[in-house]
Amino acid sequence: MEKLTVDDLRAEDVRGKRVLVRVDYNVPLNERQEVTDDTRIRATLPTIERLSSLGARIILASHLGRPKAKRVPEMSLRPAARRLSELVSQKVDFIGETVGEQARAAVEQLADGEILVLENTRYIAGEEANDSELSTQMAELADLYVNDAFGSAHRAHASTAGVAEVIRERGGLAVAGHLMEQELAYLGRALESPVRPFVAILGGAKISGKIDVIEALLPKVDRLIIGGAMANTFFRAKGYETGSSLVEEDRIPLAKELMERGGDKLVLPSDLVVAQKMEAGASTEVVSSDSIPEGLSALDVGPDTVRDYGEIIRSAKTVLWNGPMGVFEIAEFRSGTEGVARALTEATAGGATTVVGGGDSAAAIAELGLSDQVSHVSTGGGASLEFLEGKVLPGVEALSERTGGTK
Ligand code: 3PG
Repeated sequence: MEKLTVDDLRAEDVRGKRVLVRVDYNVPLNERQEVTDDTRIRATLPTIERLSSLGARIILASHLGRPKAKRVPEMSLRPAARRLSELVSQKVDFIGETVGEQARAAVEQLADGEILVLENTRYIAGEEANDSELSTQMAELADLYVNDAFGSAHRAHASTAGVAEVIRERGGLAVAGHLMEQELAYLGRALESPVRPFVAILGGAKISGKIDVIEALLPKVDRLIIGGAMANTFFRAKGYETGSSLVEEDRIPLAKELMERGGDKLVLPSDLVVAQKMEAGASTEVVSSDSIPEGLSALDVGPDTVRDYGEIIRSAKTVLWNGPMGVFEIAEFRSGTEGVARALTEATAGGATTVVGGGDSAAAIAELGLSDQVSHVSTGGGASLEFLEGKVLPGVEALSERTGGTK
């Protein structure tokens, strides 16, 4: 990666300095305001520990939810700060402001190695608009900037992009954290120099959200496996009966074109699990993909497909997975997603590099308890998709280039 990272920082760059670290603590909370999944918080510990060991005064900033420039109490960063303090076994301060006098005063109280969490960046108008005045106010809190929020790197907001630019303009450094570096390395290597065979698995409900990824991946992969309701639109393009399955009518011509372009590379399910209703306890049936009965919907891929997809995945050396094969939240429609997840763990054990995109597929593999048996699970949903589409991520773009760096 051509951007500077926390590993490029020397102790003298950091000791006693105020370091603003953008993290993605957009984590789920329960009604008691407790963090129910701390994966994203844990993922930032290597960066925080490194900065703390170098004697930095650490200021953490993040959004949580979409409060739309209002102070929504249920979206406070306080619970995340509490969880972080348990994980780092050191005091973590929290201040109910993001910028301004109180935030500055709290920063001044920090000793070397100490941590302060600021309030939700999206409580403030100007964050999502990447307002330059807000970026300047944020930059006033810090000497250096670290972006470890891969999950938010596709957003050009004040805390992800604007503040980095202000700090760089005044001669300071804006570098990537360990998590950011790791995410970009895994996803980047898969795209740029995959060990072959390179197989991508794309699932989810709609083709429309994945068109750009399909288009970007088709020329790079050896096989592109399709699952989830998005397969139905391809079936319709083939002239198959799709029953009551979800089909994006307006995308049928596109599906046809992608199949022509993809040829043998594009692999569709051969059988499906169908049911009348998408609900727990529904009675299910396995049917061939070309004949979904009237009144029934395809809600998962079938056992033959799981077997065939498993073979393709196990023979690959690089695997990228984004999107579930069926409605994995419901036990009756989980087998396809579980089968793909297990094949990924087997491929990993056999020496393949396996990368799971964030969002639903990350949630699925976590629910199956298999996250630690693949090479990498991304913490970014939208961000990993945009990266795979080949888009420039503003949060990465805004960081200092390696040339002329500190090393
Ligand atoms: C995410 O959860 O994908 C990130 O935190 C970004 O959140 P956003 O889609 O609200 O910008």
